[in-house]
Amino acid sequence: MFFTGAGMSAESGIPTYRGQGGVWEKYDYRKYATQYAFDEDPDRVWDFHDERRSLVAACSPHEGHRLIARAEATCEQVTVVTQNIDGFHRRVGSRHVVELHGNLWRSRCTSCGTVEEHHQAPRAERRHRCGGWWRPAIVWFGDAIPQAVVDEAVRAIEQCDVLVSIGTSGVIYPAAELPLLAKERGAHLIEINPEETAMSHHYAEHLRGPASEMLAQLVPSA
Ligand code: OAD
Repeated sequence: MFFTGAGMSAESGIPTYRGQGGVWEKYDYRKYATQYAFDEDPDRVWDFHDERRSLVAACSPHEGHRLIARAEATCEQVTVVTQNIDGFHRRVGSRHVVELHGNLWRSRCTSCGTVEEHHQAPRAERRHRCGGWWRPAIVWFGDAIPQAVVDEAVRAIEQCDVLVSIGTSGVIYPAAELPLLAKERGAHLIEINPEETAMSHHYAEHLRGPASEMLAQLVPSA
């Protein structure tokens, strides 16, 4: 089981959320990543997400993403539970991916509920033909993660023998506490992160370095 956060895609050139140069250092999340902000000014929120889409479109998955996908060749069952919305794990071929916080390329109509996915950056149409606004189908602050997604993540986490957490600060709940379900069931927990995190003390092993290098030590490349 791989449990990934923004640090997983940092080497692809996508900034993390917290820390120096983090997205929430530059932008006040209350103005760009809440339903309240969207209701107040949907164009402002879309401008922000269009910028994120353009940035992600200009970046590519790195060797670390590929090593995780390749782990499927040597491990009986591999699941990726990710907080990332960039879609990189699927893009390199990981087959069982649970996107806890949704996907930047998916939009949902706030009026009729239609969901669509396409990789336009910036998004041409901000309103669905029914007249309702599209909104990014991602989990903003104050949104609940859809129950089916939580259930799928919990099922996989509770069944795993080894959980490798990569590039997450472990401060956003409920995602942050999910790895503890694996620990309670006796799984071995490994943390990959150049820095100590709020959750480090729960982990049996710590690999202090960037995701791609640490994964190369952990996952056989062939
Ligand atoms: P954060 O930005 O909070 O944390 C990123 C973590 O990645 C930090 O602990 C860094 O030390 C680590 N890191 C940086 N570079 C790395 C590298 N090359 N290799 C490995 N680790 C590295 O990101 P998340 O924990 O993912 O939610 O944040 C959780 C949620 O908060 C996100 O999903 C997002 C955000 O608000 C939503 O947008 C709903």
